[in-house]
Amino acid sequence: MFNAADVQSVGVDRFPLRAVTPPAQIDALARDILALKKKLNAVILAHNYQVPEIQDVADVVGDSLGLAQHAAKTDADVIVFCGVHFMAETAKILNPGKIVILPDADAGCSLESSCPGPKLKAFQATNPNFWTIAYINCSAEVKALSDCICTSGNAVKVVEAAPKDRDILFVPDENLGGWVMEQTGRPMTLWKGDCYVHVEWTHAAITRIRQKHPGAPVVAHPECPKAVRMLADEVCSTEKMVTWCQRSTAKDIIIATEAGMLHRLKKECPDKNFIPAPTDRCACNECRFMKMNTLEKLHDCMVALAPRIELPPELGARGRIAIERMLEISARP
Ligand code: 13P
Ligand code: SF4
Repeated sequence: MFNAADVQSVGVDRFPLRAVTPPAQIDALARDILALKKKLNAVILAHNYQVPEIQDVADVVGDSLGLAQHAAKTDADVIVFCGVHFMAETAKILNPGKIVILPDADAGCSLESSCPGPKLKAFQATNPNFWTIAYINCSAEVKALSDCICTSGNAVKVVEAAPKDRDILFVPDENLGGWVMEQTGRPMTLWKGDCYVHVEWTHAAITRIRQKHPGAPVVAHPECPKAVRMLADEVCSTEKMVTWCQRSTAKDIIIATEAGMLHRLKKECPDKNFIPAPTDRCACNECRFMKMNTLEKLHDCMVALAPRIELPPELGARGRIAIERMLEISARP
């Protein structure tokens, strides 16, 4: 019989491939990008993990929930999405009539790859009582097969709002799903996918850095394994990390998430010292997919209005129902 345990995350190169824009080019490119933005009536949305020079030219920098919420209400004609492919695809699902472009169409995600639509469909068929909640880190095809989407920022709320008489199938992140089960007490069937970046943090590495900075709290993303989450003072989405750190009285704070977050945190909390939690095997705290986007590629995609997200309308329409259900649940008091 088909079993979710059979589905493994794809192997991806664990070492970051990071192209660095020479400092002399940054100002000229940023000026051109701002001019193009005006000409196109475009909005630039950037995820917290983007390189600093992209964050600095963006109109909005945020987590996947904040960026989806912004995409749902923008009146711009063109959405320039600086993040990974599934994030731009979500913006397109919410705006089928608008042009949605991204700097690098190959910016994928190990979670998305771990859950192919046909495998999900086959597994759903094993239990007609499943109510499928998909973490937003998945393809449009998976969104179209799901009852509701969630992000790390609202997963607890979405699971709490799920029908009580249904069996929840949570895809594709087993670590986020495990954390949500701990928070809500609701049993769920978890798809066996993971984020290849966040699983690099280990109990031993976090323990060592804590010993070096005894007074510093640890803030970790829920995509981290349980052994790491258990050591954390706060487990939350990237946007909630900003508000948590702003409110904290600690001067030094250890951060266990992708390295791009540190730029945003330093900007929002200039008086604090952020310590990137080390990984055990290598300096693996950069997502090679997020780092495929560069300022040059951002500029070029705005000139060419490509790569562009295109979706079969029927697929987009089905995915939209699940995303809008999430946005509605998220807006509840
Ligand atoms: P957030 O929704 O917390 O920004 O996380 C997205 C992500 O891809 C984490 O790896
Ligand atoms: Fe996907 Fe992990 Fe990269 Fe986030 S950090 S986009 S979950 S591979």
